[in-house]
Amino acid sequence: MSSILSNVLPAPEDHVLSVIFACRDDPCPVKLNLSAGAYRTEEGKPLVLEVVRKAEQQLANDLSCDKGYLPIDGLADFNKLSAKLILGDDSHAVEENRVVTIQCLSGTGSLRVGAEFLAKHHQQRVVFVPNPTWGNHPFIFTLAGLYVEYFRYYDPQTRGLDFEGMLEDIGAAPSGAIVVLQSCAHNPTGIDPTLEQWEKIRQIVRSKGLLPFFDTAYQGFASGNLDSDAQSVRMFVADGGECFIAQSFAKNMGLYGERIGALTIVCTSQDVARKVHSQVLLVVRPMYLSPPMHGASIVTTILKNSDMYKDWTIELKGMADRIISMRQQLYEAIQARGTPGDWSHIIKQIGMFSFTGLNEKQVRWMAKEYHIYMTYDGRISIASLNSKTVPQLADAIHAAVTRLA
Ligand SMILES: Cc1ncc(COP(=O)(O)O)c(C=O)c1O
Repeated sequence: MSSILSNVLPAPEDHVLSVIFACRDDPCPVKLNLSAGAYRTEEGKPLVLEVVRKAEQQLANDLSCDKGYLPIDGLADFNKLSAKLILGDDSHAVEENRVVTIQCLSGTGSLRVGAEFLAKHHQQRVVFVPNPTWGNHPFIFTLAGLYVEYFRYYDPQTRGLDFEGMLEDIGAAPSGAIVVLQSCAHNPTGIDPTLEQWEKIRQIVRSKGLLPFFDTAYQGFASGNLDSDAQSVRMFVADGGECFIAQSFAKNMGLYGERIGALTIVCTSQDVARKVHSQVLLVVRPMYLSPPMHGASIVTTILKNSDMYKDWTIELKGMADRIISMRQQLYEAIQARGTPGDWSHIIKQIGMFSFTGLNEKQVRWMAKEYHIYMTYDGRISIASLNSKTVPQLADAIHAAVTRLA
């Protein structure tokens, strides 16, 4: 039978997906998937926060809640509270009504809506992302019609930030270029600029007339404190300039599958904000008409209620602390095996991931021999480890490093 679809070519190999599929198809009972950025408990289970369960129960008992469409830009209270969460209680930009926030489909959807808006309304079509960065960034911006370039970020020699290189590359970007900055817990490197460095980045971004686009997927996951993790963003917003922020509640509220996030656009005046808002609605309408309700209702319930908010911050700190303790345990386990090399970067890095420094050959070998899966750049999700799996991983790292240079 003739087929219209027979002309479809297979997609080029996607490194991240191929790791996920290889792990899924591995029948070994003790296989370990460290490739995905997902928090697991000490028992190795996904975590639903208690405060989320409580909010859901409250919503289920509220018979006034219906299942009608949300407005195109989402739940109004969710938008207000999300902006406050990232910009702070005392944000002048909010007070001056020059902030546009719309509910989007998690961090990815927020980035995509922002990218589509920029492709339509911004004359400069070049977007600079860190090298390396989250693997989806280039896809999101390219598909929106923008041109992706890279600025230096990671120095493999020092396993730290290539700050000079970063400033040089950002400083050489053409006027108006969009600069994607991860506000905290950089994926995949786990390396963030210090506050002094952020200030220098801000100065260069502003003096060159660039447009900062913050990706905030991990607020609260870096330090365990929501305000500390928002400092980089707030520094840029405080200078009165324009700024895009994509926010996600996937990690910090454990709402991965609810696809709940927000895009905030800080404008220079209320008048500009009004126009921007009207145009963002036109980006969303043909894409998905209006966003889903459940995740937004959960987040709003928690952010609105001071007791629930406090409970959330305690649970969030618990997750951040467990990740830090996994870093320490892994570092100590590697040291205890006498594995060659300096592994202190494991405890110096921040957030959900560790950029181990293992090369692709070692990563593939560990998958084959030890059934441990990570992305080919050697990135592991520290947040998925527990006291049982740490020794398993340390054994594999030791074997890989001693056998394969
Ligand atoms: C840097 C970064 N940005 C955005 C996201 C998007 O996450 P989500 O769409 O699940 O909110 C992720 C997820 O891993 C990420 O690491």
